[in-house]
Amino acid sequence: MDCIYKDSNAPIEARVKDLLSRMTLLEKIGQMTQIERSVATPSAIKERFIGSVLSGGGSKPFENAKSADWADMIDGFQKAALETRLGIPIIYGVDAVHGNNNVYGTTIFPHNIGLGATRDADLVRRIGEVTALEVRASGAQYAFAPCVAVSRDPRWGRCYESYSEDTEIVRKMTSLVSGLQGEPPRGHPKGYPFLAGRKNVIASAKHFVGDGGTQHGVNEGNTILSYDELERIHMAPYLDCISQGVCTIMASYSGWNGDKLHTHHFLLTEVLKNKLGFMGFIISDWEALDRLYTPHGSNYRQSILSSVNAGIDMVMVPFRYELFLEEFLSLVESGEIPMARIDDAVERILRVKFVSGIFEHPLSDRSLLDVVGCKAHRELAREAVSKSLVLLKNGKDEKIPLLPLDKKTKRILVTGTHADNLGYQCGGWTITWDGASGRITEGTTILDAIKVVVDNEAEITYELNPTAETFSGQDFSLAIVAVGEGPYVESGGDDPVLKIPFNGSELAGFVADRVPTLLILVTGRPLVLEAQLLEKIEALVVAWLPGTEGRGITDVIFGDRPFHGRLPMTWFRSVDDLPIHSSGENSLDPLFPFGFGLTTTC
Ligand code: GLC
Repeated sequence: MDCIYKDSNAPIEARVKDLLSRMTLLEKIGQMTQIERSVATPSAIKERFIGSVLSGGGSKPFENAKSADWADMIDGFQKAALETRLGIPIIYGVDAVHGNNNVYGTTIFPHNIGLGATRDADLVRRIGEVTALEVRASGAQYAFAPCVAVSRDPRWGRCYESYSEDTEIVRKMTSLVSGLQGEPPRGHPKGYPFLAGRKNVIASAKHFVGDGGTQHGVNEGNTILSYDELERIHMAPYLDCISQGVCTIMASYSGWNGDKLHTHHFLLTEVLKNKLGFMGFIISDWEALDRLYTPHGSNYRQSILSSVNAGIDMVMVPFRYELFLEEFLSLVESGEIPMARIDDAVERILRVKFVSGIFEHPLSDRSLLDVVGCKAHRELAREAVSKSLVLLKNGKDEKIPLLPLDKKTKRILVTGTHADNLGYQCGGWTITWDGASGRITEGTTILDAIKVVVDNEAEITYELNPTAETFSGQDFSLAIVAVGEGPYVESGGDDPVLKIPFNGSELAGFVADRVPTLLILVTGRPLVLEAQLLEKIEALVVAWLPGTEGRGITDVIFGDRPFHGRLPMTWFRSVDDLPIHSSGENSLDPLFPFGFGLTTTC
């Protein structure tokens, strides 16, 4: 019998069925295994029939590796996979959550909370298209995005990865799936994975389900809701992702009413696969099985049993793959994990791989390297930045607005921790997992942008830490103060206090006491704004986490583009009021309501 699975003209389901019928048990459970690049040797891939490799946040071939270096690494893994008996290619996954953000020199877009402020689904789709190009240029074919969490509490360390507290906005922004994967044609079968071609990537809607609704915003915590509320608030965006042919969905570390999502057969299989008809594959989160039974990994066998039987199809192990495969094999041979469950999972994985075209084109396309970080991509990011900024105050007297600023302004003081810090502008998930301070990649800081946009006779004074000396004998006409949050990720960002870090509030007040001040807040979420500070400043702009293209900020503050953004999250008065959101469950009046945003004209 000829190999139907190798025939690119054969129907996909025939190719899946043919290949599945040829696979041994070891080859099947190997396909269900995703390991981290740091343990992914060619022999491991060949001998264990590994189905997928990933980079954990920031895990790169070497420091400052560029896209071509990544492509060399990933092609190396792929060549090993192609040498296996059946030659099933791997898929390589990365957290491309705001551009291909692990890689030096790529275009870094605003994090999702800023994109939610734009309300612009087509912009987000275009960002997905560009992100896919820059991911494919690095040789990866799989992006762990979009995060479609509905963040109901800014104390959550992943608030900035969510587009909004409002389900309808998150639903709109699932357009990223069509950007990343391409848009399925009319009549595309419901729930069936789709991928247009070699300039697109496999997407992963995450984290299913209710990750943004945990009590007190505790990351990986517990979401307590009725099924109807869970479905209405947190599950709705997944229907939009499935209707766009999303190839994979990542399970959430969190729990629902006390039961962990990774072992939730009702939600993963009965709802997501059977009721909603999702035909791609469900991937676990990083070491999620290890975290199921504490102390850490104490009952790993039980974790594998309960998560795979609940409906997890691919396990992001990512390191202890020998132990994983040993326990997994034993569970299948004992019948505790039925063969039918293995076949269902492998069928789904093979389906996504055939749909992705990776059997026909397993290696990287080096012709894409030219577009990485190119002007057109950075202009798109700049557009996104300018559309994301939210103007909360414009002049002590509304009749005398401060913005847009005059490019001929004589003497401007630029100050604050975030005025000249690209790493702070980008936030977490940038170059490294948890981000960093300083010139971490190629881009334009707020200060860089101001220097370019003002007229020649304008005098710019930059001072990181202003003191009384800064002002003696100086008659600044204006101060631009940029402060905010340093980079953080996941539980490292959980914050019950939400004060502006680095004494940002005090610095801004100190300057505003001396010079008319525009305050720019670089933050992944609403933070405490004291009434006194709000009184002192002339204007307040929230820039969220804008990424590398600082010109998008000066475009709006200096009037080349209008302010457009509107709050994607309710801005609370006090953390004691939390959780407070647009659904009105909490009657406390916010400092600025969801949807608020002043506009300017150019
Ligand atoms: C992380 C995150 C998930 C990410 C994965 C791989 O812990 O929860 O969003 O895609 O691990 O880095």
